[in-house]
Order: sequence, then structure tokens, then C-alpha cells
Amino acid sequence: MNNSFIQINQISKHFGNVKAVDNVSFEIQEGEFFSLLGPSGCGKTTLLRLLAGFEYPTSGNLLLDGSDITALPPDKRPTNMVFQNYAIFPHINVEKNIQFGLRKLGLTNEEIRERVNDVLSLVKLEGYEERFSSQLSGGQRQRVALARALVRQPKVLLLDEPLGALDKKLRDEMQLELRTLQKNIGITFVFVTHDQQEAISMSDRVAVMSEGKIQQLSTPNELYKNPHNIFVSDFIGETNFLKAETKSKDGEHINVSIEKLGEFKIKNSLNISENSSDVICSIRPETMMIDKEKSDWDICLEGKIKQTSYLGEITKFYIETKEIEKIITVSSQYFDNQSFKNNDCFISINLDDISLLNKK
Ligand SMILES: Nc1ncnc2c1ncn2[C@@H]1O[C@H](COP(=O)(O)OP(=O)(O)O)[C@@H](O)[C@H]1O
Ligand SMILES: [Mg+2]
Repeated sequence: MNNSFIQINQISKHFGNVKAVDNVSFEIQEGEFFSLLGPSGCGKTTLLRLLAGFEYPTSGNLLLDGSDITALPPDKRPTNMVFQNYAIFPHINVEKNIQFGLRKLGLTNEEIRERVNDVLSLVKLEGYEERFSSQLSGGQRQRVALARALVRQPKVLLLDEPLGALDKKLRDEMQLELRTLQKNIGITFVFVTHDQQEAISMSDRVAVMSEGKIQQLSTPNELYKNPHNIFVSDFIGETNFLKAETKSKDGEHINVSIEKLGEFKIKNSLNISENSSDVICSIRPETMMIDKEKSDWDICLEGKIKQTSYLGEITKFYIETKEIEKIITVSSQYFDNQSFKNNDCFISINLDDISLLNKK
């Protein structure tokens, strides 16, 4: 038997002529930290709301743990949602906020107290029971919202940009905590974010979305190392795009003519067709080397540094070359020990670090 926990089968959701979700199919495993990642308006919230039962699909169906939940209302699904603006009630304290709705489940006072204590400890809010929303920081309010969703012991927690309102430092902390918490309780998380770093650092797998469709569904490492198209490559981290055309295939490789650089044998992991100009090459800034001297790498180009930006752990160099039309970005950890006379430099590239992509 197939052990996929959530099955999304050819789901579409149209609002008038907007295809918010456009014929999407994929599966989520039990206990997985799964993220939906994409720019604003690509359909992430709509897909999450379809899973929660706040929206019903225009077509397609949804299975959870083998049962068809497509037509079930939210309170009949074993899912719970944490919203971006965390919607906790201001007029009742933390404890009452968390208890809210639990009585309807027919639990005894003792059971309710036990569950509330358990989640308070999970989200590290013991001792905050009596506080009101106005007496909490943004991070603490977000924990209350999380506790309120977890206390109902859902099988799936749906999180819509839950860290979006937090400042960077707190956000980084909460990312780690959320990830640890998810692994400890072992329930399935479907997490929505527009922040690629966040998705990559937290998830077991990520679905990258654009215009209602899934562009790629992979592990974080695969997404970064092996993007399937120009959209994903551009959206996940920074990259340099080089104009290219494919020539003839050669086993797992293909001959590619790259701008004015010449013709090279590149690994053709996406099985891109011969003699196509609908392709592009991508090179990540950190895979190139910048140096004062020529190197023996596969490609070594003379360049001129037009600008640098020092970012602490790395420095970015923006380099002009004769061969490549666009300014090339190279990032390097070595800054102090390099002084470039007249901004002259060499940039080196290994063929293994060039990915050949389809434009679409
Ligand atoms: N209730 C609605 N009525 C009409 N259009 C909507 C509604 N909800 C979402 N949309 C549209 O659907 C698209 C996807 O929206 P959404 O799922 O909120 O994207 P995201 O969460 O990725 O930013 C957008 O074009 C949005 O304007
Ligand atoms: Mg949204």
C-alpha cells in the first residue's frame, strides 16, 4: 500500500477567471515537514485553505489517511491552521485562549488542564497562563497561536506564513524551534512561506509554486543543486544566467555553446533536447573563484571588478568580462588577503558547476 498521508489529486481552485490553484497533484508523507514556497499571489494560501476545508476545489479531490475529505467542513477534518496574523483573542488570557473550543470536544476539566499544560510546555510558555495578548511579545503571541492549534491534537498542522510578522533574529530562533517541535511531536506540518531561506532550512521537502502550479517538488538540497527550470533556479538563491544553445548529445552530456565562451560538454541531467535555443545556463556565485592570477579551472576569464559588497561572512564581487553580456556575481569568503590592482581579476568556473536549464 502507498503510505502517502495526504493525496492532492488534480486540484484546481478558480475565482472567476483567476486560476489560484491550477490542476495540482502531489502527495505528502506522514510526519513530514512539507513547505509550499512561492512569490506572493502564486496560490499558497488557497492551497492551504483547500486542505483546511475553508475553500472547496473547483475540481479534483483530496485524500487524508486514505479517506476522501474533499467535501468535509473544517471541523470534521483532522487538520488545524495557524494564521499569519495569529488571531488570538485580546480579552481573554493565554490559558483561556488555548482552551478555547476544547470544551466542545467533550473533555473533562482535568483532561483540559493536562492538555493545556502539555502544550504550554511544548511552546515554552509555562508561567504565562494569566497574561493577556497586550502583555506578550510578537514571538510569544505566535507561540500562543501555535499552542491553540496543537492543543486539539490535529494530525496535520497547516501554517500560513506563521513567522512573517517577526523580526529577523526572532524568526531565525522560531524556525529552529518549530522544526524541533515538529520532529518531537511527529505530526505532519504543511508550512507556507514566500521566504526561500526559511523553506530550505526547515523542510523535509518543498513544493515551489508559481501561478497556481507546482514548478518543482524536491528536497531542499535538490532544489538548490538541481533546479528544474529557470523560475526555480532564480527563486531559490542567487544565480548567474548565461545565454546558451544546445548542440548534439553525447551520452549523459550535451554539447552547449555558451555566449562568447565557446562550446562545452555539460551534464544533461534534465535530458534537454539537441539544437535548442530555449535553454539557459546557470552558475551559482559561490561556485566560482575570483583571484588575481589565472587558474587551471575549466574556464578562466579575465574580468574587471565593478563593485563589491561586504556582507560579513562573504563578499560579493560584481564583475565585467568581455565574453559575458551581463555583470557576473561571484561570492567569496576571502576578502582580506586579496587586493586587486586596477580592479583586474580572473574568474574561474568548473564545468560541473554549470547547470543547463529549460527556459520554461
Ligand atoms: N477569495 C478570493 N477571491 C478572488 N480571488 C482570490 C481569492 N483568494 C485568492 N484569490 C486570488 O488567487 C490568487 C492566489 O492567491 P493566494 O492563494 O492568496 O496566494 P499566496 O498565498 O501565494 O500569496 C491571487 O491572484 C489572489 O488574488
Ligand atoms: Mg498567502
